Amino acid sequence: MLAAVLAAITSFQKIFFCKHDVPFFRVIEVIWFQAWSTEIIVHFVHVCKVNNNDGEELQFIYFEVMIPTNEQQFSLATVQEVSDFALVESGIRLLIKRDDLIHEHISGNKWRKLKYNLSEAVQQNHHTLLTFGGTYSNHIAATAFAAEKAGFSSIGVIRGEDDASNPTMKFAREHGMQLYFVSREDYRKKNDDDFINGLEEKFGRFFLIPEGGANGLGVRGCAEILPEIKEDFDVVCSVAGTGTTLAGLSISLRENQKLLGFPALKGADFLSGEIERLMGESGLRPPSTINHQLITDYHFGGYAKMKPDLLEFIQGFTERTGIPLDPIYTGKMMFGIYDLIRNGFFPKRTVILAIHSGGLQGWLGMKHRNLV
Ligand SMILES: Cc1ncc(COP(=O)(O)O)c(C=O)c1O
Repeated sequence: MLAAVLAAITSFQKIFFCKHDVPFFRVIEVIWFQAWSTEIIVHFVHVCKVNNNDGEELQFIYFEVMIPTNEQQFSLATVQEVSDFALVESGIRLLIKRDDLIHEHISGNKWRKLKYNLSEAVQQNHHTLLTFGGTYSNHIAATAFAAEKAGFSSIGVIRGEDDASNPTMKFAREHGMQLYFVSREDYRKKNDDDFINGLEEKFGRFFLIPEGGANGLGVRGCAEILPEIKEDFDVVCSVAGTGTTLAGLSISLRENQKLLGFPALKGADFLSGEIERLMGESGLRPPSTINHQLITDYHFGGYAKMKPDLLEFIQGFTERTGIPLDPIYTGKMMFGIYDLIRNGFFPKRTVILAIHSGGLQGWLGMKHRNLV
């Protein structure tokens, strides 16, 4: 049944492209759509009307892969108030957008960043995804899972050496990802044309998703986070690795709101330029003024570094609030938010919205390295 429907959709797409030389994104008036769900992936089939250059009306089918959400626990608007006695005196309200609940394996900003990358791969008629990451990468784990469920083959170009006991690599393999380990030196070439061409010679044609899902399509997914929220808030706090999530949030920030970015790595001042670049790549128009600031004091020694006071904070926060944090990104951000609140950084009655970007599989990597 599944194969039959897929075949039907594919042939419709081909007819459209063969018979009419019309730009694909001319659109879009959706006149009918059908949602059809497999075990976890939902494929949306839109039947759209477009006019070609001669004003002739055409109909075509637009096939979009939507990565699933965990519907039992989550609606895309899930925002929770952090109820914590440690905040009571502060006069600050802290809300948290629980994107970690989107999906068990494609959680948080991974879901956001993969959504339009997968759709684009389908539209370009790709069958293989290739991406980059470290040996404990959340992005690698999520991409392997999403690719498998959406019917793609996947290749992970991994910085470092293979270790059969590494839980993230094990998970990626179990979900069909072919892993290709490269030296740190080669990994640094991940954006070079020659290196990519070499990968194409080795693996054949693929749709490339950059490390961390850091491209304009990733930004588009992240730009959908804030418009989902019904509550009022003054300040948005989010973590930063590549800056893609911050770029998406910047695009949908209102002029009376402020965005604070908490980099998980040391020496992250380069991120301002990256955020600009990624916003440009998304093709989305940012507001005329973006009130944002990088808070670079809470990296705890650098990427994936753990310190006793950080661990103690994360454990205490989870015990008091019931909200899990990850050890690499959101734990550091929440530590920073509490510290800033304590130091009077926010005016009284500020409403803070923290974005929970997921990443809970990171604990497995921490345990594997005996860091927790
Ligand atoms: C859980 C989590 N939060 C935040 C980030 C960083 O997001 P970005 O690369 O969009 O800055 C990552 C890595 O991509 C992550 O895995």
